[in-house]
Amino acid sequence: MQTDALKTIGFAAAVCVVCSIFVASAAVALKDRQEENRVLDLRSKVLLVADLAEPGQPLAREVVNERFEENLSSAVIELETGERSDLDPLTYDQRAATQDPDRSEAAPANPAKVSRIPDHALIYELVENDEVQRLILPVHGYGLWSTMYGFIALSGDLQRIEGITFYEHGETAGLGGEVDNPRWQALWPGRQAFDDSWVPQIEVIKGNAGPVESDPYRVDGLAGATLTSRGVTNLLHFWLGEEGFGPFLDRYRAERGIT
Ligand SMILES: Cc1cc2nc3c(=O)[nH]c(=O)nc-3n(C[C@H](O)[C@H](O)[C@H](O)COP(=O)(O)O)c2cc1C
Repeated sequence: MQTDALKTIGFAAAVCVVCSIFVASAAVALKDRQEENRVLDLRSKVLLVADLAEPGQPLAREVVNERFEENLSSAVIELETGERSDLDPLTYDQRAATQDPDRSEAAPANPAKVSRIPDHALIYELVENDEVQRLILPVHGYGLWSTMYGFIALSGDLQRIEGITFYEHGETAGLGGEVDNPRWQALWPGRQAFDDSWVPQIEVIKGNAGPVESDPYRVDGLAGATLTSRGVTNLLHFWLGEEGFGPFLDRYRAERGIT
């Protein structure tokens, strides 16, 4: 009887060991692949706001990489000064830097609930005939349930928003999760991010905004998701403002004589 029990325990233990070796090996073997997929997903979203891909159109890995590399130039900038740095955009991991106390600092209290600001941030530029057509900036901040990560695309003269997209969030599907809805995202192009003094003014309101021409600073709220909507406003104000890309945008305008 006792031998049977020992046999059962021994067998269960052996199964556990074999399974854990299998799971651990799979995790190690797939790590590179996961990282590759993460970068691919980010690139796909940047292509979307650069108008180099259609929403919902699946693109092969090679196509994503080729379009990204042929059309977009990436850089890493120093947020405090707005200067371009020597860091390699291909290897710079902004999210890892944000968690690293040596490469980030605590953010002042802010409505977007951004807790740490990395020293450096990625930017992407769509350049044609030596002129920036679109400037694409990574943004993140808190919605209702989660930190939402995305990109905002501005026209080269910063006068209009070209697009917005999110690549990660934990908002409720059908409510806050509608930030992913292409119909809602289509309401953004043509709106204005900044007022005449370059202060961020764009706002996701509760209810419906007017047409782009007469109501340029406002975007329709997400139905039943006022808190996520407010989160989108807050994160844009944070990253387009002085604590975020403000110094870079000041420099960018000065270099181009944009007043
Ligand atoms: C299960 C559940 C999930 C919800 N998810 C969200 C959400 O993702 N984003 C959001 O803003 N509100 C969400 N809400 C609603 C909020 O609690 C709140 O009522 C809402 O933001 C108010 O927006 P409204 O004034 O447009 O109705 C959720 C509510 C429930 C019960």
